[in-house]
Amino acid sequence: MAVFITGGAGFIGSAFIRAWAQWYPAETVINFDKLTYAGNLDNVAAVAHHPTYCFVRGDICDAEALRAALPDGCDAVVHFAAESHVDRSILSAREFIMTNVLGTQVLLDVAREKGVKRFLHISTDEVGGSIPEGQLFAEDSPLAPSSPYAASKAAAEHLVRAAVHTFGLNAVITRTSNNYGPYQFPEKLIPLALTNALEDRPIPVYGDGRQVRDWIHVDDHCTALRMVLEKGRPGATYHIGGRAPLENRTVLTMLLELLGKPMSLLTEVTDRPGHDRRYAVDCSRIERELGWRPQIPFAEGLAQTITWYREHRDWVARARSGEYRRYYAQMYGALCRC
Ligand code: NAD
Ligand code: DAU
Repeated sequence: MAVFITGGAGFIGSAFIRAWAQWYPAETVINFDKLTYAGNLDNVAAVAHHPTYCFVRGDICDAEALRAALPDGCDAVVHFAAESHVDRSILSAREFIMTNVLGTQVLLDVAREKGVKRFLHISTDEVGGSIPEGQLFAEDSPLAPSSPYAASKAAAEHLVRAAVHTFGLNAVITRTSNNYGPYQFPEKLIPLALTNALEDRPIPVYGDGRQVRDWIHVDDHCTALRMVLEKGRPGATYHIGGRAPLENRTVLTMLLELLGKPMSLLTEVTDRPGHDRRYAVDCSRIERELGWRPQIPFAEGLAQTITWYREHRDWVARARSGEYRRYYAQMYGALCRC
């Protein structure tokens, strides 16, 4: 089975590619990624020399580049590529509209032209907006995105559903809660807090820190994606959650305790504008239909993640340095086209 992955140099896409190489070592994987600040070829270094793996640097907004890279009759497209950070979307929404909305439509069009057999679109629980205490966001609940990021992801989903309805594209959509684990760019809560704490730097806590997120280990997420890709009903949406709803302060307290660092590192800062208070996905459909459940308890996954970041300070330094593109070109230039 030939799989075309967009955004495979990012956090979740690269975890999926590394897992796929274990599951199906003989199958072709094409990783199509623009290498924005969040794309990092270090994340896929473990598979870079596999004969069945190929990296293509390209933008999903560029139909010609997609046409050149996507094989006719490709078995599956798994679409991770996106601008993914809420705070950046508040600073400027432009790239979010370009990649998440326009890029998704261009990819859908080219996938259709090329006769792609299956399309898996990765979305987010944030499209449901802030969920009041005691309620869950179900697959058929109305969408109510609050941030520019979430609005762009909701728009992308609508375009995927339109392609299913209008053109009969065989697509499935997943909406996942907050991922954590190795190789996550240190701008999201857990890797940012962790890397700051390792250097005894303050950890910004937005507002009162009582916002609730449901945490899922990226490896559990990838297992769920594989099941949905292989067995999900065409046209259906599946929620994927970690069953670990926690307040941000609780997450940060656990993190500092595991690191043996003082709580005084927690520093309240001005809240994120329009900050969603709580996300909570109802995951009963994927459990019922596909028999998937998360396997990695949060405390265990967090401890493992801490160990990884402790042992990969060079990765963190390069990801943060802003020099990474030059570095990648030097290290991996020969692998940048297949
Ligand atoms: P990420 O920011 O780590 O990686 C995004 C990747 O997409 C990068 O490699 C980047 O270079 C690439 N990319 C960006 N614009 C591109 C373009 N125009 N063309 C080609 N490649 C481009 O993101 P992530 O955290 O790995 O998230 C992956 C997907 O999962 C996104 O669609 C995101 O919305 C969704 N998601 C993420 C989470 C989470 O907690 N991180 C939760 C739910 C859903
Ligand atoms: O819910 C899924 C979403 O989770 C994904 O779709 C997004 O791509 C991903 O970025 C994530 O969005 P969040 O906004 O929930 O994640 P973030 O890590 O940015 O923030 C988590 C919570 O922590 C949120 O309530 C804001 C807060 N926060 C975040 C940062 C970076 C802080 O208090 N301090 C911080 O420094």
